[in-house]
Amino acid sequence: VDWSEGYVTDVGYTRGYYRELNASWQSFALAATGYEPPNINAPFTKVELGCGYGLSLLMEAAAFPHAQFYGVDFNPDHITWAKRIAAQAGITNVHYLELSFADLLGSGIPDCDFVAMHGVWTWVSEENRQKIKQFLDRRLKSGGVNMVSYNALPAWSTKSGLRELMLAKFRSTAGSTEARIKEALAFAIQCRDSGAPIFSQSPVLSEHLDRLTKLPTRYLAHEYFNEDWHLFYQHQVADAMASVRLSYLGAAKLMENFDKFNFQSSVLKLFEQVSPRERELLRDIYLNRPFRFDMYGRGLEQIGLFGSSEHILNSTFVLSDARSKLADGAIKTAIGVIKLRKDLYDPILTRLEQGPAQAKEFMTLPGARPLALGEIVEALAIFLDVGVVSPARPMAELPALQARAQRLNDVLIERTRKGEDIGCLLSPISGLAHGIADYQKFFVAALKAGQDPVSYAWVNLKASGKRMIKGDTLLQSAEENLKELEERLSSFQSNFAPRLKHLGIL
Ligand SMILES: C[S@@+](CC[C@H](N)C(=O)[O-])C[C@H]1O[C@@H](n2cnc3c(N)ncnc32)[C@H](O)[C@@H]1O
Repeated sequence: VDWSEGYVTDVGYTRGYYRELNASWQSFALAATGYEPPNINAPFTKVELGCGYGLSLLMEAAAFPHAQFYGVDFNPDHITWAKRIAAQAGITNVHYLELSFADLLGSGIPDCDFVAMHGVWTWVSEENRQKIKQFLDRRLKSGGVNMVSYNALPAWSTKSGLRELMLAKFRSTAGSTEARIKEALAFAIQCRDSGAPIFSQSPVLSEHLDRLTKLPTRYLAHEYFNEDWHLFYQHQVADAMASVRLSYLGAAKLMENFDKFNFQSSVLKLFEQVSPRERELLRDIYLNRPFRFDMYGRGLEQIGLFGSSEHILNSTFVLSDARSKLADGAIKTAIGVIKLRKDLYDPILTRLEQGPAQAKEFMTLPGARPLALGEIVEALAIFLDVGVVSPARPMAELPALQARAQRLNDVLIERTRKGEDIGCLLSPISGLAHGIADYQKFFVAALKAGQDPVSYAWVNLKASGKRMIKGDTLLQSAEENLKELEERLSSFQSNFAPRLKHLGIL
């Protein structure tokens, strides 16, 4: 019996982590757009549909011991892995269910405050989208939030021809999924090189094809080679959500919610000529945004920025990357490089260098001019988007979270040793996972165990079948790898370790 419904199941997905799925991230995004978010400091329930290997959900469950998390996926390889890691890390408030969307309603999953589905809506059939809607209809509580991501139109329209072309070859070829994908890519390149106008008339598409040849098969399989692959205009998704009483609240990609950062004033004038519902299409046309992370809510109260001030000001934030990432306050947006006001961002970052703080502290910082709520929200949205700052769990919870994060990170480092690709570790302070390379994870483990980081990292890299890369070169000999690790250790100690300490990872 084929349970896959045309979905790729013989190649597992990547073990990705996405901060936009996290409840505290979404709470800030909602409050910043003037909506009352669900209370995440009281017990809540969250469901992730199509959770893959379930890493985003696992990290979140570790950071919110008072909440219950349910991850659903029909691929047994994904669910088995997720269950094993959760059990090894002692995270008992996450429940992974090997289940098809068709069986969601009979599964006993309780009513929930948050639903998230990342990388699902585009890649499943209309029948499955109906099942998901039925689940949202019956199980999402009033005041609950659903985050859905999908491939958006019109940005994807040119690339859809390339996908069809690759799929035509994929369907006509026998063998493993991996081998068929390679043939499909080679076929598209042949078509391009023989002058197919879809490439010659669209250099962007040609560059895109070159990029695809460098991406892992695991990603390509799930992105391009499912039988189902449906592109949507935002208003089509909004209509589907409206049919189950959910309305559009904003984007989980924070900066996308601030028109003034993304559009010239002449464009904003054009926005005024269409209704608010149609404005979203104009935003997509001007941002040419290929992927959307939409948040929809059931009856969420629109309380405005003033109404959500208490929530924002009582929320805690932590420095999560080097200040230099903001390159003197310059950020790149859709309309070019914007320079932030130094008198606004400098005092906040200086305060956060001392340790996590609640946003209310930013209103009156020593030696700085008083900051208004709107200014703080805009600054935080930018900092969070760039990654320099992250939302943080309340400091009173830190001792309990430290032990949970430590145990989970130990398991993830052990998995890295076995050659599994896991690109992040959990911070007990932010409650989010943060990117870290394999050799850096081994440096962390060595420092904790009081061992020499360089030799420890080399022994473990070797055991996991990996090597250091310098420029484009994979270093082969022990001498080359040890020399490279030695050099990386000094920059790790001066640049990366302080950041990990700030985040409570080291
Ligand atoms: C592109 S992956 C995204 C995984 C994860 N959300 C992430 O972003 O890393 C889509 C996931 O949906 C699951 N899936 C697809 N169709 C499904 C169905 N009918 N029922 C349950 N899970 C399904 C797949 O197994 C896969 O893990």
